[in-house]
Amino acid sequence: MTDHKTIPAHPVSIQDNTFRDGHQSIFATRMKTEDMIPIAEEMDHCGFWAMEVWGGATFDAMHRFLNEDPWMRPRMLKKYIRKTPMSMLLRGQNLVGYRHYADDVVRAFVDQSCEIGIDIFRCFDALNDFRNLETCVERIKANGKHFEGAVCYSLTEGRLGGEIYTLDFYVKKAKELEAMGADTICVKDMAGLLSPYDAFDLFSALKKTVRVPLHLHTHYTSGMGSMTYLKAIEAGVDIIDTCLSPYALRTSMPACEPIVAALQGTDRDSGIDLPSLLRLSEHLESIAPQYKHLLADHKLSMIDNNVLAHQIPGGMISNLVSQLRDMKALDKINDIYREVVRTRKDMGCPPLVTPSSQIIGSQAVLNVLFGRYVQISKQLRDLVFGLYGKTPVPIDLKLTAKILKNYKRGQTPITVRPADLLPPEMEKARETIGHLARSEEDLLGWILFPQTMEKYLQAKYENVAPARKAAAGC
Ligand code: CO
Repeated sequence: MTDHKTIPAHPVSIQDNTFRDGHQSIFATRMKTEDMIPIAEEMDHCGFWAMEVWGGATFDAMHRFLNEDPWMRPRMLKKYIRKTPMSMLLRGQNLVGYRHYADDVVRAFVDQSCEIGIDIFRCFDALNDFRNLETCVERIKANGKHFEGAVCYSLTEGRLGGEIYTLDFYVKKAKELEAMGADTICVKDMAGLLSPYDAFDLFSALKKTVRVPLHLHTHYTSGMGSMTYLKAIEAGVDIIDTCLSPYALRTSMPACEPIVAALQGTDRDSGIDLPSLLRLSEHLESIAPQYKHLLADHKLSMIDNNVLAHQIPGGMISNLVSQLRDMKALDKINDIYREVVRTRKDMGCPPLVTPSSQIIGSQAVLNVLFGRYVQISKQLRDLVFGLYGKTPVPIDLKLTAKILKNYKRGQTPITVRPADLLPPEMEKARETIGHLARSEEDLLGWILFPQTMEKYLQAKYENVAPARKAAAGC
């Protein structure tokens, strides 16, 4: 790695996440499309492997808070981003919403996303139950697009290992994704838990097992992100995710510039032009003041090593804080962090990522305030009943019986793919919304976000003042 005259034998590819995960992680997903356009063309020339521009919480935040039509952003960006593939984050059968949608909705959503210019689909499931990706994959492939299968990185101990999240677990999951036709495989470390030496072991093992290129997505939250990338690069990872520096670090991704600089002249040199990155970051600095109030500034430290214990991703922490503030119970936050760990264990140790993070986080709040499982949320009942898929380990039978007591769907959890139980939704929705949905895009948006999208569409077509309330997830 040290000969400065070496022509890179295996350049590291870099995906830029500034326009999606970057502002989602540190500016509550509030970056406006008009602020992306002035730099989109120069970013297109940087040589990124892809630019993630859509999905995750963007769809929700755009219509709810920014009064923007979510479908328009990729369309507009495509005019400037002509050679770099555009990617999106898709939560499998949850799409970009918070429940499982019927197969006809998933098919129409993926088809429409291809139509507006999405080239790469990073698909994940919060429980790592890949049956929830099947319908998405079928349409991604039918449209000739790139399916990136993602496995959510989670732990039960401080480091890789223990009873569930072992090296073998991730190798097995990667093989499953490859067998499903994944064009690339991503390890999605949404809370920044992957430590540098575990990353080395993990990518060394994955390199030996699967043939398709490997992609690592991590966050800077715990402070290990850049070190983790370097060790993953030494182990042969093909693609990493970064953001331009003003939108990086904290709970966002490692910054692009230092990694590009560190690899220059080595056999993993990314080939990305550092001066253009510096110009782009300077531009972002010039628009940053309007977003600065969204930055968490309650403490001096940019990192939070506590995340290694509670594993709560950044977006979920801000949701918890606002939920507790509304209940005038912010002083209970540390009890709740501890209870999140217990509730997650009770629920079969799923990774904490949308929507499992919200379901477990909200139940942990109820458990602390009212006693354990005295009040039980509908979403937790649905999770225990199997409506989100199979949990990594089975939930205790006694607890299952307690949670499903009087549950309207029954007391015995299902074992089939959850969407097999969902009747088609498109036609009924079309009849219900009527003329307010003027296109397939309006209709899909309304199915995903009935209340807020209805207000958005009324404002757009009927000149009713838009509502801007409630919080977006992550
Ligand atoms: Co992320």
